[in-house]
Amino acid sequence: MNMIEVKNLTKDFNGFAAVDNISFSVEEGGIFGFIGPNGAGKTTTIRMLATILDPTSGTAVVGGNCIVNEPHEVRKVLGYMPDYYGVYDGITVREYLDFFCHIYGMNSKTRLKTINDVMELTDLGKLEDKLVSTLSKGMKQRLCLAKTLLHDPKVLILDEPAAGLDPRARIEMRYLMKELKELGKTIFLSSHILTELEDICDSVGIIEKGRLVASGRISEIKAQLCGTVIYTIKTIEDSARAKSVIDAIQAVASCELQDDDGTVNVRMKDETCSINCVLKELIAADINVVEVKQVQSNLEDIFMQITKGEVA
Ligand SMILES: Nc1ncnc2c1ncn2[C@@H]1O[C@H](COP(=O)(O)OP(=O)(O)OP(=O)(O)O)[C@@H](O)[C@H]1O
Ligand SMILES: [Mg+2]
Repeated sequence: MNMIEVKNLTKDFNGFAAVDNISFSVEEGGIFGFIGPNGAGKTTTIRMLATILDPTSGTAVVGGNCIVNEPHEVRKVLGYMPDYYGVYDGITVREYLDFFCHIYGMNSKTRLKTINDVMELTDLGKLEDKLVSTLSKGMKQRLCLAKTLLHDPKVLILDEPAAGLDPRARIEMRYLMKELKELGKTIFLSSHILTELEDICDSVGIIEKGRLVASGRISEIKAQLCGTVIYTIKTIEDSARAKSVIDAIQAVASCELQDDDGTVNVRMKDETCSINCVLKELIAADINVVEVKQVQSNLEDIFMQITKGEVA
């Protein structure tokens, strides 16, 4: 079952399509990574899903509720963490969480239990008496996430939860995402840190200039892409000569010289193309090959391959 279904979602700001007719789905209990360069339309999409920005056209269904017709129902099942810390100065961590529990109409017993549970999950226990204004960036980020979890939402939409965090805090955030997934939450998160997304996401969506350029499981996207098989071939000869031999081979999509150490990067046209034809031609041309390696393409390669680096 899909927990989020986005259908032809569009947001137009005075004739500029910040989000342009995008459709994708996020399965229940999965972690979905929303990736795109700065200005691609991630936050705009997220704000529409969180029902704080009306779509120009199209819609989305979150937890079975339509964001256009049933925004109040969506808010009950959704925890949204924006890309800024909406925290108040002059109150402590516990007071801050208590304030939001009041807004959700919880009685004092429920408030106590909820706050203790959420503080334990987000490791905020030791900070409960600290003033919010004195927290570090990473601590504020955790407090924001804690606030997002208070009403026990089924779906979490997190806009760059790892932005600005140091390596340790990022790793901790990743563990927390996995823990939340184990608790049965569906998680939609945006990020620029592709290597981290690859590790935790079940599927991803890649957005550029408001358009969705790919979505699905990382392995499926890899399979859809032509020319993803990359080899590095090291020669002890002039690599420029190797490149001219390789450039003439039909099955090769592209060939680039790498640095000055006699290495060339070869991209085959599709995954069924063997590197043998390249090696045969090199040997026939009397070029000494000393090493051949297949480079596994990761999320970063996919991202670089399908986005053009253009900012909307
Ligand atoms: N309220 C608005 N009015 C006009 N244009 C807007 C508004 N909000 C966003 N935009 C534009 O829409 C585009 C997408 O912005 P958005 O914030 O969604 O990008 P993003 O992918 O979240 O980028 P980043 O990685 O920098 O957070 C940008 O060109 C931005 O200037
Ligand atoms: Mg953004």
